[in-house]
Amino acid sequence: MKLIDIQAVCTRIKSITSDWTEKPIIVVDNTVMSSYFQRPLSLGADVVMHSLSKYMNGHSDVLMGALILSDEELYRKLNFFQMAVGVTSSPFDCYLVLRGLKTLHVRMREHEKNSLEVARFLEQHPGCVKVNHPGLPSHPHYELGKRQMDGYSGLLSFYIKGKLDDVKRFISKLKIIAFAASLGGYESVCEIPMTSSQRHTPVGCMESWEITPSLVRLSVGLEDVKDLKRDLGQALDYMLSVQSSTEPVADSKNSEL
Ligand SMILES: Cc1ncc(COP(=O)(O)O)c(C=O)c1O
Repeated sequence: MKLIDIQAVCTRIKSITSDWTEKPIIVVDNTVMSSYFQRPLSLGADVVMHSLSKYMNGHSDVLMGALILSDEELYRKLNFFQMAVGVTSSPFDCYLVLRGLKTLHVRMREHEKNSLEVARFLEQHPGCVKVNHPGLPSHPHYELGKRQMDGYSGLLSFYIKGKLDDVKRFISKLKIIAFAASLGGYESVCEIPMTSSQRHTPVGCMESWEITPSLVRLSVGLEDVKDLKRDLGQALDYMLSVQSSTEPVADSKNSEL
C-alpha cells in the first residue's frame, strides 16, 4: 500500500539516461488503481500494464492482461511478439472485459467509498493496530496520493493486534468476506500476505516492507458497507475475546485456513 511518485521517478530516469542510445522503458503496473483513477502515461511512463482480471473487468470471471502504450515502434515489436508466441485473448474474454469496462467508473467510485469507510472503521477498532489506506490522512503518502490519483481503489491492508494464529482465528470467523488472494472483484476478499501473495518474498525484504504475520490484505468489494463492517467487527471481537486462550482455529466458510 506504499505509493511511488511516478512523475518524479520518470523525470529522474529520463534525466540520468538522456544520453544513452538504448533508452530504458518505464513500465507501471496500474492494476490496483485502474485507468479510472490513475493514468501513468500522462505522468511519464512508457508502458502501462494491467491485470484486466482485477478492477478493469471487475467480475472475477476472466484471466486477461493488457499493455497500454503510445509508442508506435514499441507497439509493433510487442504485437509481433504476441502473435509469434500466441498469447492472444479469447473473443469471449474480450467481450467480458469490454462489458465490465462500461461500468468501471461506477464500480471504482463504490470501491473507493466502501474501502474508505471500512478503513476508518478498522482504524477505530481495538483489534486493529494500524490501517494502510492511502486515503487516510494517517498514511505517509496521503499528499502524494491526492496529487497523483483521482481516487482510491478497494484495496487496503491492516495489522491485527496479535500473531498469525489470531489472524487465522479472525479470518475463520468472517461470514461474508472470503479468504482468497485476488483483488478488484465485486466481492470482498482477504488474505495473509506473508503466507499467500508474498510468500516467496525474501525474509529481509519482508521485514523492510513491513510484511509481518499480523498483516491482512483486504480487497473491499461492492457489498453493502454496513454488512462488511459488521462482519469485520464480529470477527475482530471474537479474536480479541479468545486471544489469551488456547482455543484452536475454528472451522468456518474459510476452511482453507
Ligand atoms: C498488482 C498486480 N499486477 C498483476 C497481477 C497479475 O495478474 P494475473 O493473475 O491476472 O496475471 C496481479 C495479480 O494478483 C496483481 O495483483
